[in-house]
Amino acid sequence: MSKAQIKVKNPGTKAKASAQIEVKNVTQIYSMRTPFEQKALDNVSLTVEKGDFLAIIGTTGSGKSTLIQHLNALIKPTFGEIEILDFKLTPSRRKMRKIKELRRRVGVVFQFAEYQIFESTIEREIIFGPKNFGISHNDAVKRAAKYIEIVGLKKNMLEKSPFGLSGGQKRRVAIASVLSCEPEILVFDEPIAGLDPSGAYDILQILKKLNDDGKTIIMVTHNLDNALEYSNKTLIMKETQVEYNDDTSKLLLNKNILEKSDLMLPQVTAFINELNLHNVSLPNNINNINTLATEVIKLLKSNYKKPNPCKEKSHESSNIVKKSK
Ligand SMILES: Nc1ncnc2c1ncn2[C@@H]1O[C@H](COP(=O)(O)OP(=O)(O)O)[C@@H](O)[C@H]1O
Ligand SMILES: [Mg+2]
Repeated sequence: MSKAQIKVKNPGTKAKASAQIEVKNVTQIYSMRTPFEQKALDNVSLTVEKGDFLAIIGTTGSGKSTLIQHLNALIKPTFGEIEILDFKLTPSRRKMRKIKELRRRVGVVFQFAEYQIFESTIEREIIFGPKNFGISHNDAVKRAAKYIEIVGLKKNMLEKSPFGLSGGQKRRVAIASVLSCEPEILVFDEPIAGLDPSGAYDILQILKKLNDDGKTIIMVTHNLDNALEYSNKTLIMKETQVEYNDDTSKLLLNKNILEKSDLMLPQVTAFINELNLHNVSLPNNINNINTLATEVIKLLKSNYKKPNPCKEKSHESSNIVKKSK
């Protein structure tokens, strides 16, 4: 298979002003022309705008991880091309150029990133990336002190070994080491997989804050309630292809689309759907359980009539009459 080429884009072919990523008709075939040949992506196209929070969802084996591994040139397209920031990734055989710069600007936190921790202290682990990208030791240490707090750990842990940490804490360290390279685009492959609910919540808040601060976030997830709550755009993959790609609210509140994609409804969507079946409609901008609860309470209050004691009495007496028959 040929090597991906990365080159600074010709200004004439520049992507749309706000588009940071354009995946154009990308096909990925692993071990092509061998008995192990496996198509993992089939003609996938996608645009990501600056500041988007894109959720990538889809059944296992649909190609989600393969797609994101292209974004920092860990793998190269077999066919098609990707424009990302100032770079263009193609299936060309020519030697990769500027790959380091691309990887600094596009940070990828792989699934179970904590397994990739290898340094003897947390500080060394976090400064490894920035130093590798040419940041001075002193500045890298300053970044470590900053980003360890951003991921919710204490500065005094920097001198400790990462191997004594819990799985969730190790994942935070792995995230801090990617954040400390200060990339413009952050990609997370199932960042909350295997975490307890409060650890998962904390990680999602970190992603939300990064996005609120203007970073483009891409998150592969199986948790559709999280995708609904945190993302503005959603890509649904099915069997190596893009099934849907649209505003999150258009896709994740739509029972038919999710069923067609072999996905379970988010709990919020299932609840709204159940109410709809009973002709109870709610506003169509609900994207999390708290807003859902607020809207249901509003609805109940608006329809709730205080019982009329006189009516109740006459009702009771009619029952008595019935019984005595
Ligand atoms: N390194 C690889 N070599 C060969 N096949 C692979 C490799 N990685 C993934 N695949 C295959 O590619 C398809 C898509 O996998 P993947 O991108 O991991 O999907 P997802 O992340 O949606 O579960 C699957 O059929 C998977 O078995
Ligand atoms: Mg995967």
